[in-house]
Amino acid sequence: MDTLSAREWSYDEIAGGRQKYLAPSLATFTAYARPLALGRGEGQYVWDIDGKRYLDCLAQNLCISVGYANPMVNEAVATQMAAIQHVTTMYCHEAPIAFAERLIGKFPAEDYVVHFVNSGAEAIDIATLVARLYTGNHDILTLRSAYHGMHFGTMSATGLALCHQPLPSSPGYVQVANPDQYRGIFGAGVEPYVQEIVNTIDTATSGQIAAIMIEPIQGYGGVVPMPEGYMQKAAEAARQAGGLLIVDEVQTGFGRTGKAFWGFEAHGVTPDIVVMSKGIGNGFPLAATVMRREIAESMAHRKFFNTYGSNPMACAAGLAVLNVLEADRLQDNAARVGAMFEAGMRRVADKHEAIGDVRGSGLMLGIEFVSDRGSKTPDDAKADAVQEGLRERGVIVGRSGRFKNVLRINPPLCVTEGDAGLMEQALDETLTSLAR
Ligand SMILES: Cc1ncc(COP(=O)(O)O)c(C=O)c1O
Repeated sequence: MDTLSAREWSYDEIAGGRQKYLAPSLATFTAYARPLALGRGEGQYVWDIDGKRYLDCLAQNLCISVGYANPMVNEAVATQMAAIQHVTTMYCHEAPIAFAERLIGKFPAEDYVVHFVNSGAEAIDIATLVARLYTGNHDILTLRSAYHGMHFGTMSATGLALCHQPLPSSPGYVQVANPDQYRGIFGAGVEPYVQEIVNTIDTATSGQIAAIMIEPIQGYGGVVPMPEGYMQKAAEAARQAGGLLIVDEVQTGFGRTGKAFWGFEAHGVTPDIVVMSKGIGNGFPLAATVMRREIAESMAHRKFFNTYGSNPMACAAGLAVLNVLEADRLQDNAARVGAMFEAGMRRVADKHEAIGDVRGSGLMLGIEFVSDRGSKTPDDAKADAVQEGLRERGVIVGRSGRFKNVLRINPPLCVTEGDAGLMEQALDETLTSLAR
């Protein structure tokens, strides 16, 4: 019988098989000239099929929140799988209820409810749908360089050309200037960016909008933190035009920023709708849209069905992730060890002019590469070479940003002081060797 474990796969069989049997669209987002073929993972480390160990500072695009092969998460999923692996939303099961109750406990004291789906893009889709139904307005404001997914609707919400297929955008998405404090069009500060929201509502919409959607720290857009005061003022401007505040916590949620459980909490705003995914399930396909009950009710007048929404194995994984985050105090760890990672990266930046900026919060950090600090000219070739050099030294990082010149440092939240030291040394050595 041809089971997965029946034979050993060579690198060429895996890489070649991917070309032969998988749709080419699935290979449009690859890392490294010779992509990694991974065999296993444990904690914050992965091993490739040749047995080489890597510190994983990308965590499968931030999905692995509490560490690979976490025994509590694995056991919860295995137990649920042995009992019953799927229960359609046509019936009841306790797993989504138990998980939703705990999730809502992580929110401000509003009457929130949870809609479970399988992926971030689906959760964004639900958020935009419900915001439009509730407000009776259509336009959704999103930020340049925002990333909200690549499916048909979400692609239009995303503010990066390389994520748009050359087709007409889905109607009703309007972009506003990104308050990027390093290279935003109005420079540093908040007011001009808020004024631009007002101007855009006045000129590019009917004057009434459904929502503004914001990531507290843009992830794939290049690790761009929203400046203090921006989210509050942006929400005020949106609400004045009849719109809601949708916060995309797909990357910033579940304690990753160290400061708070949700990214929005550091900004003093109470969102109407929050979208979450990735770290929610530690790699299990799971996402959720959390919203005020009265907003959710606007979608209850017609039928809605999503086959795998509320899957009990996924919800068991989600509940276990919350348990591990709390038991192991991983948000505190993200703050403490994240500060060590950041300090190490700043020490390396002091030695190497190629680094234009180091930014982020907790374990959501970015390093921006420039050809010179004065002009801030993006240097994507350097970012690429550093990403490859780090891989040779056993460290995986991501690359992102409109100019692809920002390295993303987003390890599982269980990383240690030793890992921060490993990252600093590998980065320093890589940059030193590239300067030769
Ligand atoms: C902030 C943010 N929102 C939404 C999404 C879309 O999630 P998915 O890839 O699960 O559709 C992503 C994915 O990277 C994301 O980073």
